[in-house]
Amino acid sequence: MTVKKAVIPAAGFGTRFLPATKAQPKEMLPIIDTPTIQYVVQEAVDSGIEDILIISGKGKRAIEDHFDRNPELEARLEESEKEKLFNEMRHIADMANIHFIRQKEINGLGDAIYYARYHTGNEPFAVLLGDTIVDSVIPVTQQLIDAFEQYNASILAVEKVPKDKVSRYGIVGGKRLSDTIMEVSEFVEKPDPATAPSDLAIAGRYILTPEIYTALEQTPKGKNNEIQLTDAFKILSKREKVIADTIEGKRYDIGNKLDFLKTTVEFALKRKEFSEEFGEFLKETVAGLK
Ligand code: UTP
Repeated sequence: MTVKKAVIPAAGFGTRFLPATKAQPKEMLPIIDTPTIQYVVQEAVDSGIEDILIISGKGKRAIEDHFDRNPELEARLEESEKEKLFNEMRHIADMANIHFIRQKEINGLGDAIYYARYHTGNEPFAVLLGDTIVDSVIPVTQQLIDAFEQYNASILAVEKVPKDKVSRYGIVGGKRLSDTIMEVSEFVEKPDPATAPSDLAIAGRYILTPEIYTALEQTPKGKNNEIQLTDAFKILSKREKVIADTIEGKRYDIGNKLDFLKTTVEFALKRKEFSEEFGEFLKETVAGLK
């Protein structure tokens, strides 16, 4: 069975990015001119996903509007012969079949994913966090789908992080099956570097089997009094194989301010229209630093 559906959780409060997220979704924060969640949807589409369920919530209407048509704007662009922009705006509304469901209370990532159960039914599905972009040659969801087709098990994207920074992440441990693949038996949130089971951090992309829903039903509230997806994995991995796949690509978590800044700089340097002038500006700025 292949993976045709994706779920994008985007209902969280985004407290790390206040005040910007007081009245607008953090998933709409743009990297230059493109909202973060548009990169995420594009990755799903580039991985062959045809159907996307976005977990939305209070204050997240802008996401729905973004993926909808805007006839007045289209007419204006057409009149003023801005064809490129016109096509771009049309493309956003036609990227995939996008559905929305509202998470009624913000009870954690595990709870958000549980809302997808009627939509994904008995199929395996991809999960892409709405505030995380992965820059890679092969779309990272595609990499995970390839691993799913090989192992027929839930797949977690992981990335190697510096040993002294493991205490910032959810870290996995288990039996290595190859250079990039591990059968996971341990999940530890923010471990002490001295006792961490590995330096592989969970990276915001997953392929899940429908058994995750049973595991979520049995997951008690954890950290922050929320249903944590990592806790559900602990239950799931006792019942069936859970695989960690070290992805090729660079992850950007735009939900924290410093990473958001770094992402903006790196993406601007990659954009033809900005790279030269912005690069010069950065050089001058850095030269002026003490
Ligand atoms: P985060 O934990 O990074 O998001 O969840 P958050 O809770 O909004 O952030 P802070 O800690 O308050 O700053 C990762 C993704 O999961 C979604 C978020 O919207 C984000 O895209 N999420 C999180 C939900 O959809 N529902 C939740 O209950 C929690």
